[in-house]
Amino acid sequence: MSLASLPKIELHHHLEGAAPPELVRDMARARGLDISRIFDRHGAYVFADFLQFLDIYEVATSVLRSPEDYARLTLSVLEGAAAEGVVYLESFLSPDFCGGRDLAAWRDYLHAIEEAAVRAEAAHGIVMRGIVTCIRHFGPDKAREAALCAAETAGAFVVGFGMAGDEGRGRPRDFAYAFDMAREAKLGLTAHAGEWGGPASVRETLADLRVARIGHGVRAVEDPALVDRLAEAGVVLEVCPGSNIALGLYPDWAAHPIARLRARGVKVTVSTDDPPFFHTTMTREYERLADAFGWDEGDFAALNRVALDAAFCDADTRAEIAKKLEPADV
Ligand code: ADE
Ligand code: ZN
Repeated sequence: MSLASLPKIELHHHLEGAAPPELVRDMARARGLDISRIFDRHGAYVFADFLQFLDIYEVATSVLRSPEDYARLTLSVLEGAAAEGVVYLESFLSPDFCGGRDLAAWRDYLHAIEEAAVRAEAAHGIVMRGIVTCIRHFGPDKAREAALCAAETAGAFVVGFGMAGDEGRGRPRDFAYAFDMAREAKLGLTAHAGEWGGPASVRETLADLRVARIGHGVRAVEDPALVDRLAEAGVVLEVCPGSNIALGLYPDWAAHPIARLRARGVKVTVSTDDPPFFHTTMTREYERLADAFGWDEGDFAALNRVALDAAFCDADTRAEIAKKLEPADV
């Protein structure tokens, strides 16, 4: 079996961040918006560093202005992910971008996304669930509103609450209230940390937000005691190596710490983050990991079992996805 056809589970994926540049250009053109500054001459997204990435991400997202736009985006993204062998995808959904955190508007956007996910599942077999996400650099007040949107719509489709954005802004404890609301609503919790912040950022996030999973978390490797703690506590890292390399966190695949973290007993999973921004796909991630660390199908099957255990979906969905991970009878 090739790595392309291997069934895959992806836990760290931003819906807007997966928008194909062609789709964004098309929507901008239809609305008469000039967003040419976010593309290079080949039509790919262009940015020099992480903060510029966050900026052009928000410009690209600004063309998505209705539930129908999000339905189109969701269908396109899920079709592409299914073609990569993804059988289960948890995607970050942002009330900030979907109706400006207004609860009624959020329900309309969410309905459109969920309906598109149902259609994509029927057509391509891929199962999607949503993690409602606040944006750290928008501040704690907006995070609380996003958490309210999450709590009010928690259920079979909305299964988690998370935080993305600029890790350099604010402290994890500023967002504790939002995460407490989400925990009370029985949502699974994750937050980006240890991407641009060092080990202290991961420690604070675990202590103050009490998340089960950390988005990225790779810079924990700089603190051996923290690595031991992550391994002992079974904290799951949503690792996105291609994203880290594209953003300049590590110079190349050989330098990426995912294999070292895994060897130390940390539960690592593999995701794309924002695939077209980083010129990646799930199959590319697997291929680069196989090249850099000699990982084979058995390693990827083991990673996917870790990911399935860490998924925020209900037990029935987990059992259904487990069947898709089983090797096909020959
Ligand atoms: N939003 C989208 N991608 C992100 C990343 N890699 N880090 C923080 N926020 C993000
Ligand atoms: Zn991310």
